[in-house]
Amino acid sequence: MEQIPQEGRKGPSHREVPRFVGLLLAMVLMNVLLYLCLDWFFISPRSSAVDPSSCPHGYFRMGHMTNCSPWLTCEQLRTEVRQLKRVGEGAVKRVFLSEWKERKVALSRLTRLEMRDDFLHGLQMLKSLQSKHVVTLLGYCEEDNTILTEYHPLGSLSNLEETLNLSKYQHVNTWQHRLQLAMDYVGILSYLHQSPLGTRVMCDSSDLPKTLSQYLLTSNLSIVANDLDALPLVNHSSGQLVKCGHRQLHGEFVAPEQLWPYREDMPFQEELLPSYDEKVDIWKIPDVSSFLLGHVEGSDMVRFHLFDIHQACKSRIPTERPTAQDVLDTYREVLHSLRDTMMSQTREML
Ligand SMILES: Nc1ncnc2c1ncn2[C@@H]1O[C@H](COP(=O)(O)OP(=O)(O)O)[C@@H](O)[C@H]1O
Ligand SMILES: [Mg+2]
Repeated sequence: MEQIPQEGRKGPSHREVPRFVGLLLAMVLMNVLLYLCLDWFFISPRSSAVDPSSCPHGYFRMGHMTNCSPWLTCEQLRTEVRQLKRVGEGAVKRVFLSEWKERKVALSRLTRLEMRDDFLHGLQMLKSLQSKHVVTLLGYCEEDNTILTEYHPLGSLSNLEETLNLSKYQHVNTWQHRLQLAMDYVGILSYLHQSPLGTRVMCDSSDLPKTLSQYLLTSNLSIVANDLDALPLVNHSSGQLVKCGHRQLHGEFVAPEQLWPYREDMPFQEELLPSYDEKVDIWKIPDVSSFLLGHVEGSDMVRFHLFDIHQACKSRIPTERPTAQDVLDTYREVLHSLRDTMMSQTREML
């Protein structure tokens, strides 16, 4: 057979052919892998926080603790907890980053004795509502007016924007994660509205900054409720309704039924204010969720898909508003359908 001299050939050399085929194979393999792993890319794996409810009542587990420990007693709080620095303060509590057995913890101290009833109510709620939706209680001492909880270094939801702007969190500053946060928030409301203690209203939420300050952002970027000092009970079957606080409320953040319904020149009297139910929390969902969605690529697309459910939340007639569970179901559907659309678009491109 006639041998074609190597140099005279126009096509790839013997050595180039396998290299070329190898490259092609690698590209095909990468595409297949990418195709198969799309689910993983779009459905962000959120390392699930240890669920405090997996410990029996009166016990806690946090971080990498393998066993459940009993809540710390007054004696232990006094001797084993070292107060380090103040990290927050509200109307009821002053909160200190502290140390317990080389772990960071949050020690809350009552600020003013006049607020003791709210402080004790909050403690009671924390004790009874321990779950993945609520900050983990580590101990308390009624005598000293102290509460010990798990410390969350990212602080309250008010810090969300500056946290997500850090380069460390750029990869999670996406519409998917932000919608997940909105789902956490609505999930907490849904839990409070159907809690083991009946229907509870998140009353400490007369404006957006105040509302955000009652929730903490965990290190794996989920939300837990922290301040449960104002959770009055609604009992529809016995006709028990609530009034949030004792003062006149203003503005559009609160539900219309929370506003003074009489003429401006008529002096405010708490007794004259009609009471209301948990639907006041639903009214506030669109504003809080919009804050959580922020302004990243895709946020407006999500807002567009949530338009109808948010409009329903803003119904002036409370009974026409959806339940928190309805809102959560809609958020979940939107998340899944947008992910499916994005995945099929990406697959088509491959
Ligand atoms: N466990 C915690 N980890 C980190 N920061 C916390 C923690 N608990 C409270 N804080 C900070 O302290 C602030 C006030 O706490 P909060 O319980 O809302 O007090 P108050 O009842 O007085 O409103 C929160 O908004 C938050 O910034
Ligand atoms: Mg607070």
